[in-house]
Amino acid sequence: MPYVRSTKEILEKASKEGYAVGAFNFNNLEFLQAILAAAEEEKAPVIVATSEGAIKYIGRGNIEAGAKLAVEMVKTLAEKVSVPVALHLDHGRDFNIIMAAIRAGYSSVMIDASHLPFEENLKETKRIVEIAHAVGIAVEAELGKLKGIEDNVVERESVLVDPEEARVFVKETSVDFLAPAIGTSHGAFKFKGEPVLDFERLKKVKENTGIPLVLHGASMVPQDMVELAKQYGAELSGAKGVPEDMLKKAIELGINKINIDTDLRITFVAYMRKVFAENKSEIDPRKIFDPVFVKVKEIVKERMRIFGSSGKA
Ligand code: G3H
Ligand code: 13P
Ligand code: ZN
Repeated sequence: MPYVRSTKEILEKASKEGYAVGAFNFNNLEFLQAILAAAEEEKAPVIVATSEGAIKYIGRGNIEAGAKLAVEMVKTLAEKVSVPVALHLDHGRDFNIIMAAIRAGYSSVMIDASHLPFEENLKETKRIVEIAHAVGIAVEAELGKLKGIEDNVVERESVLVDPEEARVFVKETSVDFLAPAIGTSHGAFKFKGEPVLDFERLKKVKENTGIPLVLHGASMVPQDMVELAKQYGAELSGAKGVPEDMLKKAIELGINKINIDTDLRITFVAYMRKVFAENKSEIDPRKIFDPVFVKVKEIVKERMRIFGSSGKA
């Protein structure tokens, strides 16, 4: 199926039908192949994403080259599958990288100005929306900060999205998707105690905006994978992610795009360690990568089933 010009096509359908599409980060060809193979087997629409760091990595430090090569890889592989595939820039903060992604032909970009005061975030987002919409692609922005929720109420209010601000922000910027901070954080160590997400806040943001919402920092950090990695020497004590029932509840309340990176990384590292330990004299990288990427594909398939996007292509 052809590469999707705008991620909006994928997320508007998800929003209408009440499911979420996985946005999976990749940094190299093998991860991308594993994600697209999973999407094909699940008959699921899929978003693949590069961070700014991924663009630099793919371009060996050259951002124009990295963005162009990412688009070329995704377009070439998308033609070989029967499901819609969109390419998204994750956490765009550098104007030059956002422009490089737009020029290269990304299907959407995220402008992440969430570290700036509200008015500046709004102004920056509006500027990117004008440029991106002029070439027919979608924009995601973020409100609040991605940190685990602390018990302190004052701290909590300063970190999480304000639903009233979300209403004004979406109206003023015409942004296509919004990532509201509701208590998740990036990486493998999301919660100190029990996992807590502010669903009431999420519900209000959806009511006030009506657009597809995005959950960042949504990896589940499967404990069997953590244990496997630890068994082969990894230091991951205290690693904890978002439980499945919380992801499902978030989808019910209006999340339509779910960002996953850590689950793929942790699966890769756990099986890499296992394959190395069990094949001490193997020096052919292909024989090491092949079984590992089968596992990465499996974890992507599992996530697609949980998100309800399987069978929706
Ligand atoms: O949101 C963050 C993603 O996990 C990408 O991380 O900047 O290390 O590529 P990265
Ligand atoms: P995880 O670290 O939970 O996978 O989150 C990834 C993410 O939000 C990318 O934008
Ligand atoms: Zn993120």
